Amino acid sequence: MNSVRTQVVIIGAGPAGLLLGHLLQREGVHNVIVETRSLEYVQQRVRAGVIEYGIANFLEESGVGARMRTEGLVHHGIEFRLDGVSHRIALSDLYDGRAITVYGQQEVVKDLITARLAAEAPLYFEATVTSVAGHTSPHPSVVVSTDEGELEITGDYVVGCDGSHGVATASVPAGVLRRFERVYPFSWLGILAEAPPATEELIYCRHPRGFALYSMRSPTLSRLYLGVSPDETLDSWPDDRIWEELTTRLTTDDRASISQGPIVERGITPMRSVVVAPMRFGRLFLAGDAAHIVPPTGAKGMNLALADVRLLAPALIAGLSGDERGLDAYSEESLRRVWRAEEFSTYMTQMLHPHPSDDFENGVQVARLRQVVQSEDTARALARNYVNLSSL
Ligand code: FAD
Ligand code: PHB
Repeated sequence: MNSVRTQVVIIGAGPAGLLLGHLLQREGVHNVIVETRSLEYVQQRVRAGVIEYGIANFLEESGVGARMRTEGLVHHGIEFRLDGVSHRIALSDLYDGRAITVYGQQEVVKDLITARLAAEAPLYFEATVTSVAGHTSPHPSVVVSTDEGELEITGDYVVGCDGSHGVATASVPAGVLRRFERVYPFSWLGILAEAPPATEELIYCRHPRGFALYSMRSPTLSRLYLGVSPDETLDSWPDDRIWEELTTRLTTDDRASISQGPIVERGITPMRSVVVAPMRFGRLFLAGDAAHIVPPTGAKGMNLALADVRLLAPALIAGLSGDERGLDAYSEESLRRVWRAEEFSTYMTQMLHPHPSDDFENGVQVARLRQVVQSEDTARALARNYVNLSSL
């Protein structure tokens, strides 16, 4: 088996792995990123869309935010719809002028890959890490399977940025990590459509038939979601039914609802919360979805993934020169933020997704949403969390 030596082995070229690689490479730390999918697949994978204020600033400071600053859509508010009536939450007025940036995750990934290729730093696509070994030894390693055969990569540290179905967490002996999980009785059916958004700001809608979200990617691309039951499949959702349901849920008493166009991407995502603790075993560290999942209602997943590596990169750099204090603190510090994000994402989810059978729960949900749209204090707390939770 061929073997390669590096300082940090990074599993996964999602936002977490790519940003970590970039931050290390900028400081002269040699690292190798291994990604199971192809370059094309990773760049086209449509997922998150909302970048928090502090995370957007961090991407810019790190030298990978230029296109986000020119092409990203800066939003100063969001809308909540309840019983056919719109209520605007003026995020920036409520929170020191700060705003979110709507910019697709795949665009963040493209920008990071461009920087990686320009730096000629090693990034293997269509290469799958099949095992991790030597977690508690000075030189942990991974075995990578490629079309050309197997490769062993040894480092001083290994970081699992390999998402929710990755190999890093699974490689840790039973009993070391604790897994906390909650499954919600909903999924999100998401579409990307070639249609100019009929709204300037995101709309989160609580309708008796279910949740709906109106988002966007550009002046010509709309991104919309429907809350559906967890056993739904795409087969039972032809285009007409999707548009009809979106129109029903998003129409208000006083406004035209949505603009339609060809659907260019669609998918169903089950909603769940997962926290894996600690985010470390020996010299293996976990970051992003590999260690935690949040339901997407709070728009926190990518932001948390990027916040993890913002903390981990300097800790790894110090660790390589013998100072492991940052690494020792990493898991606890990250998990504090992660639980906060779980709390906010659960709060948003349970406020906006009507329960199919529990009308007591529904009464509480409506009261909670009314509180947000009627009480400035409650709206201000929501604005801070929505705009900047990962940097608070
Ligand atoms: P990933 O992006 O999952 O990357 C992991 C990578 O590891 C993948 O490329 C995978 O192919 C690779 N990999 C896995 N196993 C291996 C292996 N064995 N060997 C090599 N490579 C491997 N978040 C937000 O912040 N805002 C939002 O608005 C938002 N909306 C969302 C909407 C939807 C519908 C969904 C599904 C998610 C949303 N998220 C959102 C969450 C966000 O997309 C994720 O949290 C984010 O992708 C996490 O990044 P990551 O780098 O940790 O993991
Ligand atoms: C998106 O644009 O994809 C998006 C926006 C807000 C969310 C989730 C997803 O809460």
